Order: sequence, then C-alpha cells, then structure tokens
Amino acid sequence: MIGLYIHVPFCKKACIYCDFHFSTKLNQTEQFTNALCQEIHLQERVHKETLSSIYFGGGTPTLLDSTQFQAIFTTLQNYFHIPPNIEITIEANPDDLTPQKLNLLKQLPFNRLSIGVQSFNQRELAWMNRSHTAKQAEYSIKKAQDIGFFNLNIDLIYGLPSVESIQQSLEKTLALNISHLSIYQLTVEPKTKLAFEIENARVTIDEKKALDDHQIIMQTLTQNNYEHYEVSNFCRDKKYAVHNSNYWKGFDYIGFGPSAHSKIGALRMCNISNNQRYYKGVSAQTLAFQTQEKLDEQARYNEFIITRLRAKWGLDVLDLKHTFAPHFYQYFNQALLSLNPLWYSREDQLITLTEQGMLFSNRVYLALIMA
Ligand SMILES: C[S@@+](CC[C@H](N)C(=O)[O-])C[C@H]1O[C@@H](n2cnc3c(N)ncnc32)[C@H](O)[C@@H]1O
Ligand code: SF4
Repeated sequence: MIGLYIHVPFCKKACIYCDFHFSTKLNQTEQFTNALCQEIHLQERVHKETLSSIYFGGGTPTLLDSTQFQAIFTTLQNYFHIPPNIEITIEANPDDLTPQKLNLLKQLPFNRLSIGVQSFNQRELAWMNRSHTAKQAEYSIKKAQDIGFFNLNIDLIYGLPSVESIQQSLEKTLALNISHLSIYQLTVEPKTKLAFEIENARVTIDEKKALDDHQIIMQTLTQNNYEHYEVSNFCRDKKYAVHNSNYWKGFDYIGFGPSAHSKIGALRMCNISNNQRYYKGVSAQTLAFQTQEKLDEQARYNEFIITRLRAKWGLDVLDLKHTFAPHFYQYFNQALLSLNPLWYSREDQLITLTEQGMLFSNRVYLALIMA
C-alpha cells in the first residue's frame, strides 16, 4: 500500500506568507494535466501499486475543470489499484467552491474536502492577500455540508500580527460543526512578501501573540471535544486524516506534479519546482525533471524522530532499536536524558509528546536528531 499525492501548481494570487510552489498562469492547467498524466505513465516503478489514500494538494487543485479531473482519475485507474472507500482528499479555496464546483467534486471520487480558510476575520484575510472573503469561506463550508461533504477539514493560521483574535475564527469553526481542523502557526518563509515586509520593518511578528493564541486554541478545542492528535491537527470522533497520518507513521508515498516529493524505502525523489521545466522534462520521456537520493542511515534516523514524534501514535523505541544500527539507539537514549521531562511521556516502549512538547516540538527534534 502506498499514499498518492498530486500537486496542482496554480493559484489566483500569492498569499503574503506562502512559499509553496505555484504559478498564477491559469491558462496552463490543460498543459499541466497532460504532463501530469504523462508523468504517471512514465513512473513505471510504482505501477500496479495498491493505493492507501489519494490527496490533491497545491497550489489550488479546485482550479481544474471537470474534463481535467476526469483525465487524471482515468489515468490513475489505468495504472493503480484503487480500493473502494479509500480516503480521496482535495484541497479547496473557498472562492472556487461554487454550487456547480461542489456538485462536480461530489460526482468525482473525492470523499474528503480540505478548505483553506486561514481566518474568518475579513481584515486578516485582506492582510494575507487571500483571494476570498470571510463570508465566502462560511458560505462554501455550509454549501459543502449541504451537498454531503461531511468529511471536512479547514485550515486556519494563528500568530497573525493583527489585533484580531484567533477566538473569532474558533467560534465560527465551532458554530459550523467541522470535524477536522489543521491550525498552523504563521511561519516566516524566506523570499515571501511577509519576509520582505518584516525586513523593511513594516510588519513585526510577536512570539508572545503566537503563544497566547496557542493557549486559546488548546483551551477552546479541548473543551469542545477535539482531540489534538498531531502538532497542527485536531479532530472529533477519531476522524484522523488518513493520508497525512500515514506520513507520520512512516509509510511510503508517491507524488506527481511539479515540486511533489516521493518516498519509497530509503529513496527520496523530488520533482522540479518549475512548471515549464517540468512540462519539458516530461515530454522528453525521461525522468530528468526529478532528483533522486538514497538517504543514509543518519538521515533516515533523523526523519524517523521527526515524523514519529509529531503525532499521537508516537515513537516506538523497539522499532527504533530494530530499524537502526546500535549506536543510534544509544544516542537516542542519551539524548532523551537531556530532554525536559515535561515535554514527553513514556509508556513501555512508546514515547509521545505532551501538549508542552508539541508546542516546543522544534526544540524536541533538535535535542534528539543527530547533527
Ligand atoms: C499550501 S496551502 C494549499 C491550500 C490552498 N491553496 C489554500 O491556501 O487554501 C496549505 C496550507 O498551508 C498553510 N500555510 C502555507 N504557508 C504557511 C505559512 N507560511 N505559515 C503558516 N501556514 C501556512 C495554510 O494554512 C494553507 O491552507
Ligand atoms: S496559501 Fe494556498 S492559495 Fe495562497 S499562495 Fe499558497 S498555495 Fe496558493
């Protein structure tokens, strides 16, 4: 079983904080779809695999049309075994979710919708340069629920340098009865408009605001029966995101489209983050648009620590012992002694992060990985 990711590299406009790969040349979606289907045809080593989940991410996958989606699903069906009822997610921007688009998505094999809301506050959305309004976000969620998309996630961002509070977004989220939430702390990525504004002293980021927001999030969501099951993810009724959970459990995945990553055993592949060069590489019928690396044991140990500790399934010390050479196990046990005991808990061989540990997860990883 393997998870499958498709990267759709188009957005209507650039959000101030974002460094994901996308282009605003929306007239290239047809060319992209053709190249993507050709790439799937070229990647023979994964043909006939049984898929555990499918995830359309971006960019903005909801910019594709009916014919393009159908071409992609037909190609996937030709090359993979897709068991019935596996999770098939699409990331969506609220402004694309017209009743017609929602009906189309419902007729296609998608059974989970992840809507990028970011905030329900109009001033915050304008500051982020989002392509939708707060009203559109709320409307798109209600419409999605009306037509039967109950397996629904929304993305929110906290730690925004505005006077508005995360409280308003949380209250709206609760009122809309959403089963899964991804809530990310605003990060300043190099070369983004946000980084530029900070460099020029037009924006300041307040660490204290992020900590205050985090406290409000934890309090509000735990009081309302959400389980904090991964650093940035919360759900009700055990509705864990299957595709992403499989990353955190260390399962293999294959990614198609510009900038998509793949993991097959110790191999890590990465597609080029440039649409023109991707189209050209694919049409040359080679895999020249892709770099491939075999991770050494230390890199795999570091990856093991970071992925396993993110989620509630935790890190199995015996698994670590059996997977890596003995000195990695010794290093881990030694490093664990230096870790703040309030940041993790241990039950037999299973180590999981506490709420505090999740808050300071980057410091936990730094303490346990091998430099
Ligand atoms: C790559 S986006 C794709 C989803 C879709 N295009 C959208 O924006 O609604 C996935 C999510 O990553 C989060 N994200 C992207 N850049 C971020 C940053 N610098 N800091 C915090 N969250 C970020 C946003 O919440 C976004 O919804
Ligand atoms: S956050 Fe989403 S919509 Fe905004 S630029 Fe990034 S990928 Fe595009």
